[in-house]
Amino acid sequence: MIRVGVAGAAGRMGMATCAAVEAAPDLELRGRADPALGVALEAILPDCDVLVDFTQPDAALANARAATAAGVHVVIGTTGFDAAALEGLAGANVFVAPNFAIGAVLMMRFASEAARHMAAAEIIELHHDGKLDAPSGTAARTAALMAAASGGEAPPIHSVRLPGLVAHQEVILGDLGQTLTIRHDSMDRSSFMPGLLLAIRRVGSLPRTPTVGLEALLFED
Ligand SMILES: NC(=O)c1ccc[n+]([C@@H]2O[C@H](COP(=O)([O-])OP(=O)(O)OC[C@H]3O[C@@H](n4cnc5c(N)ncnc54)[C@H](O)[C@@H]3O)[C@@H](O)[C@H]2O)c1
Repeated sequence: MIRVGVAGAAGRMGMATCAAVEAAPDLELRGRADPALGVALEAILPDCDVLVDFTQPDAALANARAATAAGVHVVIGTTGFDAAALEGLAGANVFVAPNFAIGAVLMMRFASEAARHMAAAEIIELHHDGKLDAPSGTAARTAALMAAASGGEAPPIHSVRLPGLVAHQEVILGDLGQTLTIRHDSMDRSSFMPGLLLAIRRVGSLPRTPTVGLEALLFED
C-alpha cells in the first residue's frame, strides 16, 4: 500500500484526487491538508509516502520543500510557479506535470511533431474562470516543446477564461493553403486521474528528480 496525502484537499482538484485515491486498491488516503480544512501540511507528512499537491502557485514550492525534507515523495499538479526551483530538492523524489490528462500529453507530442513540418502555429487555451494563472502551464509547455522541435520561435498563446469551461486547448498550425488543428478537451476533472494515479505509483522509483511531464512516464524516448 502507498500512503498518500493531499495538499489542497478542499479544492476542486484536491477533492477529485482524494476520491480517486480512496477508490484505488493499492493506495491509502492518509491525510487532507488545506487551510480551508484547518489542517497544516506538517501534520499529515509523517503519515505519508507520497504527497500530491494541487494548491496555488505561491504555495507549491514551499510544500514540496517541506515534503522532501521529511522524506516524502511529491507529485505536483499545481501550475504557474517556476519549476526550475525544484532542482536540488533532496531527501525524496519530485514529479511535476502541468497536465495529467493522457490525451493532453498526446496533443503536446503531436503538436511538437507537426511543428517540425509546418510554417507557423498559434495556441488557444480555454479554462474555467476560477483558474489563477494565464497562460496555462500546459500551453506554456506545448509552446516550449514546439519551439524545441522546430528550432524556431515559441508559438503565441491566447488565453480564454469563461464559466462552463474545464480545460481545453487548440493548437492551430498553418502553411501554404492549409491549416491543421489539434484539440484536446477535459470534460471533467476525472480526465486527470489515470495519469495522476500513474505518477503516484511511479514517483518513488524515478530515475531522476525532479522529473517533469507525464510524457516521461508514458513514452520510452
Ligand atoms: N496538472 C494538472 O493536470 C492540473 C489540472 C487541473 C488543475 N491544475 C492546477 O491545480 C491547481 C489547483 O487547482 P484547483 O482548481 O483545484 O484550485 P482550487 O482553488 O479549487 O483549490 C486550491 C486549494 O488549495 C488550498 N491551499 C492554498 N494554499 C495551500 C497550502 N499552502 N497548503 C495546502 N493547501 C493550500 C486552497 O485552500 C484551496 O482549497 C492550480 O494550480 C491548477 O492550475 C493542474
